[in-house]
Amino acid sequence: MIYHMDAMPQTAHCKRLTMKEEDYLEAILNVSKEKGYAKTRDVADELGLSPPSVVEMFAKLDRKKLVVYRKYEGVTLTEAGRTIAEQIKYRHDVLVGFLRLISVPEEIATKDACFMEHELNAETIQKIKQFVEYISISKSAQIEMKRFTESCK
Ligand code: FE2
Repeated sequence: MIYHMDAMPQTAHCKRLTMKEEDYLEAILNVSKEKGYAKTRDVADELGLSPPSVVEMFAKLDRKKLVVYRKYEGVTLTEAGRTIAEQIKYRHDVLVGFLRLISVPEEIATKDACFMEHELNAETIQKIKQFVEYISISKSAQIEMKRFTESCK
């Protein structure tokens, strides 16, 4: 699926990314948090894929200047790649927070957030974030949310 993200930096190499490419960037960001780089095997595990298919995508992202791929070592995000990965992760976290709030089971929340994070309008993400924040600071809203959660059982 090809689409355009509003807040994404417009570089010569990267205007439009597929959902799959964004998932890779997000996975690389998650995996490289500790070491600063991501090994092929770790990214494959994170995405539930085989290492050869991961290597193929690493090469593609390298051509788009979103990662630097070194055989036998793995990948590091470039600045452009990191900006996109962080944006996707931000969307993911906002959406998981919302889905948890409305009592979606954890496993489904994570899976659906990974689907929605690529598609929703930036304004929708912003409103969802504001809604979750509002609930977290409003006592009466929390009481209502608790009632809602109980009504779901
Ligand atoms: Fe995700």
